[in-house]
This record gives sequence, C-alpha cells and structure tokens, in this order.
Amino acid sequence: MDQIQITEVAARDGLQNQPSLISTQDKLGLIGRLVAAGVESIEATSFVSPKAVPQMADAGELLPLVAQRWPRLRASALVPNLRGLERAHAAGAKEIAVVLSATETMNRKNINMGLAEALDTSEQTLSHARSLGLRTRAYVAVAFECPFEGPTPQSVLVRLAGRMHAAGAHEVVLADTIGAAAPAQVRERLQALRDVLPLHALALHLHDTRGLGAANAWAGIEAGVRRFDTSVGGIGGCPFAPGAAGNLATEDLVLMAERSGMATGIHLDGLLDAIGFAEGLLGRPLGGRSSAWLRCSRPAPAVQAVA
Ligand code: COA
Ligand code: ZN
Repeated sequence: MDQIQITEVAARDGLQNQPSLISTQDKLGLIGRLVAAGVESIEATSFVSPKAVPQMADAGELLPLVAQRWPRLRASALVPNLRGLERAHAAGAKEIAVVLSATETMNRKNINMGLAEALDTSEQTLSHARSLGLRTRAYVAVAFECPFEGPTPQSVLVRLAGRMHAAGAHEVVLADTIGAAAPAQVRERLQALRDVLPLHALALHLHDTRGLGAANAWAGIEAGVRRFDTSVGGIGGCPFAPGAAGNLATEDLVLMAERSGMATGIHLDGLLDAIGFAEGLLGRPLGGRSSAWLRCSRPAPAVQAVA
C-alpha cells in the first residue's frame, strides 16, 4: 500500500503562538497522545530566543524527556542559527530543522536577518548538523506567498530549495506559511522543483487558512510527494506572519489518505483523543474540517455493566 509519512508539528507550530504558557508536562501529555495514535515523527520544539517565542523556552528540558519516554520516536527541533543547533545538540537532538524564508522581509521579521544572511546561516547550520551526525530538514517558508511582499517568485523558491538540498538537507520542507497556495500552483511549483531535487527529499507543510489545505495536499500526492507536516486539531501558525492560521489538520490528511487507499500508520480514534486533550489545554474547541464528522461517527464508549 502507498505510504504517506507525516511529521506532526502540533507541539511546535501548534503551540508556539498560543497566548497562555503550556507546561512541559502538558506538552508531554499531548505528545504522548500523538504517539499513542501511531505518530512516528514529530517536531517537538524549537531552540529559538525565549524572548522571541516564550512558549518554546523549555526546549532544553522537553527534548530529553521526549527521547527518554519514546526512544523510537523521531523527534525534531527547529533551530534558527548555530546557537540553536548547539542548544539542540546539548539536549540530545538527533534531528533538526533550519528555517529559511523566501523573502527579505519575512526573514527579517522571523529571525532578524536578511535573505542573504539567512541563507548563509541555514547552510552553515546544516553543514554543522551533518558533521554532528544529525538528520536535517530545511524549511523554505513563504514558499507561495509572503504576507509582506506578496507572491513569491517561483524562480526564487526553486533556487533556495536547490541550495538547501545541495547543502545536505535530508528533507526540504516547502512551507505555505500563510496558507495562500492553490492546487494548480502546488502542481506547477513541484514540477519546477523536480529540476533541483528529487521529490522523495521534499515535504509539504501546508496551512489551511483558506480551506484549501487538503486540496493542496492532494495536488502534492498526485505529483508524487509522500511527506507532509500536519498538526492535530489544525492548531498552529507563525507569530511573525500576520494572517497565518492553523496547519492542515492531521486528522484531515489521515482521513483523506485512508479513504484513498493510502497508509499513514496513524489512527483517527487516537487523534480524537489528542484533540480532546489539546482542547483542554487551550480552552477552546479545536479540529480540522473533518473533526465534527469524525466525532459523530466515533463509536460511543461501551457502557460499564453495574453488578
Ligand atoms: N536560542 C536562544 N537564545 C538565542 C538564540 C537561540 N537559538 N539565538 C540567539 N539567542 C539570544 C542571544 O544569546 C541573545 O541573548 P541576550 O539578549 O540574553 O544576550 C539574544 O538572543 C539576541 O541575540 P541575537 O543574535 O542578536 O539575536 P536576534 O535578537 O537578532 O534574534 C533569533 C535572532 C533568530 C534568535 C530570533 O529572531 C528568534 O529566536 N527567532 C525565532 C523565530 C521563530 O521561532 N519563528 C517561528 C518558527 S518559523
Ligand atoms: Zn507552519
């Protein structure tokens, strides 16, 4: 059966923008439910400035606890610079993700560097991470449209993705940071990207701002992409990208894959438990496009017989 590989990003992309601080124990509670649902790869946290993203200040405590509890889980951490890589390595990270944006302004807003410096930093960080024996992912953010500069030229995207692949990234992650893509563009950009990297080295990180997340994922699947980033309950969004709404929900992609005869290794019932837990943490209803239907069609728990 055709396999879809999902990296669950709720613990990083999902939580980074939440207004109230979530405790390390509660983050472990969420990750534990994802693992119970069958998730094998997560982005657990980010080693960024705690002033920039206070929610991720516990990265150094969280990551070793995740590795200790779930030794077989692939747990990645986002690092914006060499300082982040050092911290991630000290915490025992086996996989990291660098974050390059395709425009000058988005890099400035996100990591306080221009495009040239961000590119240089990402390449150095990838090279250093590889010399440490780490698996590496490289985001190319605002791959379709930038909230500050408008549509991202395809030629720029292709150049940057090619540079990240050449710098040794095991996976180049095309991120539709503000959820502006449409399926025809996904198809067109993937076609152009084939010139600079093989599609098995490419992942799609989609946001569902305009309700096209699943349609965009399907365009990716049809083009040959098999790796996706998703977030349970559709929580997520970049604090530095105005208008960024939640990620494509894990349950929506898992449902679409299941109904289309593809395997993800993740079960929907377990995801509903994770959504319920995340709702308790964030104090509001959550869920992707399919979650209302999923909840209705979930078998009621067996009633305990009273002796
Ligand atoms: N982790 C923790 N602290 C870091 C750090 C890292 N990876 N990189 C830099 N710092 C600290 C420095 O030590 C310094 O600390 P001090 O003020 O106590 O002396 C401070 O941050 C400023 O350092 P500087 O190199 O001048 O960074 P900056 O202010 O230009 O910020 C980033 C650059 C990348 C650290 C910051 O913009 C950032 O963390 N961005 C993350 C954005 C993000 O997570 N976006 C969402 C995901 S895409
Ligand atoms: Zn994202």
